[in-house]
Amino acid sequence: MNWLDSAQRYGAVSRAVHWGMATLLILMLGTEWLAELVGMSEREAMTLHKSVGLLLLGLLVFRLLWRGVNHGRLESHAHWKWAARLGHLALYAAMLLIPVSGLLAALGSGHGVEFFGLPLFAPGAEIEWLEEAAEETHEVLANLLWLLIGVHVLASLAHQFWLHDNTLRRMA
Ligand code: HEM
Ligand code: HEM
Repeated sequence: MNWLDSAQRYGAVSRAVHWGMATLLILMLGTEWLAELVGMSEREAMTLHKSVGLLLLGLLVFRLLWRGVNHGRLESHAHWKWAARLGHLALYAAMLLIPVSGLLAALGSGHGVEFFGLPLFAPGAEIEWLEEAAEETHEVLANLLWLLIGVHVLASLAHQFWLHDNTLRRMA
């Protein structure tokens, strides 16, 4: 098995991180709806939401380091190279800023933050301005992520089936 990326295809680690994070991010975007579906209380759902969100932040750090390790191994596209770079950059920015704003909103609320039961930040005083600003940012960016994912999926389908450059195969 190829752990590292090769000229024609993302390696096993890059693919696992891409699809694992994509699945978790989409589940995170649907937290409220999913909680209702499985009959979870809002409080339980938010506790899980914060832990999975922090896990995603950790995975993002690993992903960026792994990208550095693989730098230059994968051939870049002949078509729309700059559009792809810009699109991926926007997705990375969203994957960073969404959990950071979520963390700031949680800190502002004063409820404290746990990571799967492990206390990370103790409960403290509510900081209203921080909570409000970070919640607003978190929500706007989460909505923007839906849009970015939509454009990203359409772009990868267009590459595969219109430009026929096997883009989907590289990540599949
Ligand atoms: C939350 C959802 C998603 C995020 C945040 C995301 C993010 C990314 C990023 C940042 C890249 C650049 C390569 C890298 O650094 O790993 C990438 C590549 C790719 N993604 Fe996604 N992705 C998501 C969902 C999807 C879905 C649902 C598809 C299926 C159509 C898809 C198909 C691809 C393909 C084919 C590539 C390779 C593009 C290339 O070779 O240039 N992604 N994705
Ligand atoms: C990493 C990906 C994350 C995604 C995609 C995400 C997405 C979302 C979404 C869609 C909502 C509902 C927004 C609304 O309608 O009000 C939400 C709410 C919230 N998230 Fe996240 N989140 C992420 C990470 C985090 C993290 C790491 C934390 C904290 C440690 C966090 C804390 C919160 C809080 C406190 C709320 C409730 C805000 C409110 O009451 O309006 N999130 N998040």
